[in-house]
Amino acid sequence: MRVHGQPYRTIFVADDGVTVAVIDQTRLPFAFELQHLRTAEQAAVAIRDMVVRGAPLIGVTAAYGVALGMRADPSDAGLERAVAVLGATRPTAVNLRWALARMQALLACHGPPERMRVAYEEAGRIADEDVAACAAIGRHGLGILEQIHARRDGGAVRVLTHCNAGWLACVDWGTALAPVYAAHEAGIPLHVHVDETRPRNQGAALTAFELGAHGVPHTVIADNTGGHLMQHGQVDVCIVGSDRTTAAGDVANKIGTYLKALAARDNGVPFYAALPSSTIDWTIDDGVRDIPIEERPAREVTHVRGRTDDGRVLEVQAVAPGSAVANPAFDVTPARLVTGIITERGVAPASREGLLSLYPERRGG
Ligand code: MRU
Repeated sequence: MRVHGQPYRTIFVADDGVTVAVIDQTRLPFAFELQHLRTAEQAAVAIRDMVVRGAPLIGVTAAYGVALGMRADPSDAGLERAVAVLGATRPTAVNLRWALARMQALLACHGPPERMRVAYEEAGRIADEDVAACAAIGRHGLGILEQIHARRDGGAVRVLTHCNAGWLACVDWGTALAPVYAAHEAGIPLHVHVDETRPRNQGAALTAFELGAHGVPHTVIADNTGGHLMQHGQVDVCIVGSDRTTAAGDVANKIGTYLKALAARDNGVPFYAALPSSTIDWTIDDGVRDIPIEERPAREVTHVRGRTDDGRVLEVQAVAPGSAVANPAFDVTPARLVTGIITERGVAPASREGLLSLYPERRGG
């Protein structure tokens, strides 16, 4: 996607052929800056501190982190160390584990002298596959938005989204926002309601930045507003991303997603999750029971970051001093509340049979 007229991916190998450049998402929307990663440890810190975030991008960064690790130490011990340090960063997005397992399995088949080259090539392939998957999610989701538009008598299709599941969460295009970009390009009028997504404000800071940069009409709303809009017929469809989706179609996504799915069900609003197959955890069925939910630092709740009128970016405290704080970063929306799952292979019901109809090779697995 374009930033200031220049095409960018969220992660790429710099001109020196080894350094991995990422967009520093902790600085958006007030500054657009790149950060350069030179070691597996730096890649791990970038994931943990959310310089990069979003399930697909976390996976790709981990893959490049392994490549950086192979540059320093391509021995078996070096490989294990890189995978361990990267794997300990964020527990919920399964793309992390998926990418590390893929890198480890491939590198185990190569001797140390080849590992660095092979690792960079494979990380590049994972990044390219993510771009292709997100573009395909956009094409499949476009069909849903076209159908809604046909019923809207020329009016804009009103989409509600939560968190940031746009190109900043992936390598390009996004998951939940890929259909929005595809529809925008196809000339379908849209209006996106963007949940601010406390505590880190990925919606207000990142989704609004993305949509604004691409001229997609949108309104940022407080997290508690979506139910009211749905009751008043102002939302045609909810589309969210996912950090881990079970084989039975339960969807883990940013905290607050579940409440939107409940409101959508109560108001007859279709609720879709858009995700590449790298986000499906085929080893589990029950998301509420089995998906590990990351607990983030209390400071994300007690403090809010923003820009003062004189242009300084500051963090200020918003919670009464001394109050205890909890910060689970994700919740699970049970499959029964999900109208459909939009993947790179098409749209399926949120159920084991539905997902297997798109991924028959997983049958019996
Ligand atoms: O904590 P984050 O910002 O990494 O959480 C991101 C989300 O929850 C996204 O909605 C999810 O990763 C889907 S992204 C394509």
